[in-house]
Amino acid sequence: MKVFVVKDQVEGAGIALDILKQKMADGAQVLGLATGSSPIEFYKQVRESELDFSEVTSVNLDEYVGLGEDSDQSYVYFMKEHLFNAKPFKENHLPNGLAADLDEELVRYNAILEEHPVDFQILGIGRNGHIGFNEPGASFDGVARVVDLAPSTIEANARFFADPEEVPKQAISMGIANIMAAKTIVLMAYGPEKADAIKATVEGTVTEEVPASVLQNHDDVVLIIDEAAASKLTK
Ligand code: GLP
Repeated sequence: MKVFVVKDQVEGAGIALDILKQKMADGAQVLGLATGSSPIEFYKQVRESELDFSEVTSVNLDEYVGLGEDSDQSYVYFMKEHLFNAKPFKENHLPNGLAADLDEELVRYNAILEEHPVDFQILGIGRNGHIGFNEPGASFDGVARVVDLAPSTIEANARFFADPEEVPKQAISMGIANIMAAKTIVLMAYGPEKADAIKATVEGTVTEEVPASVLQNHDDVVLIIDEAAASKLTK
């Protein structure tokens, strides 16, 4: 694991963008994308870059069950706002949170993930160490599935909703095995509320109780964190 401690998100996004440019120059064709506040500045710098995605496919990590593009809290809405409206891709794939039959949707999405192996994966991290919506206890062998959100995740994400009761209780998420299959993974985390999760991810035991700790088993992971998120690291 390579760790960059940066002064702010602007510097962090710049590093992530440089890695993306390098990987695209080397032929990366499939990007794994994440939502949340951590990659927002990265997407801004991507929008402002010269990068051309017309031959690139994207697959997203997750989507809330029950939300679609009409909801400004859906992840499909987020991706359009922050990236897809400004940068057209060859194809954009996200789980469909409005699918009438979720089992069928999982079959569809898992097939998409198999067809499009990810070259470059962006990740954030939850305060409890979740990646995508793989909450503590999620199997390292898991593929895309419907997950129940941890109460702490519902609480953390309530800040984006007018009424905390509106936060969906379930999501469709790539599994840990899907995430680990990416060739390169860049995880961004900022702020003191991520410090415990970062410490457990970098220096803790590899355990399903801390989903992001699995990244210690991957050979091309870059962590981009600010000083607050790095504050509990000892090395
Ligand atoms: C959400 C998302 C994750 C994201 C995490 C952290 O629940 N499903 O993909 O990484 O929480 O979000 P943020 O970057 O806003 O702290």
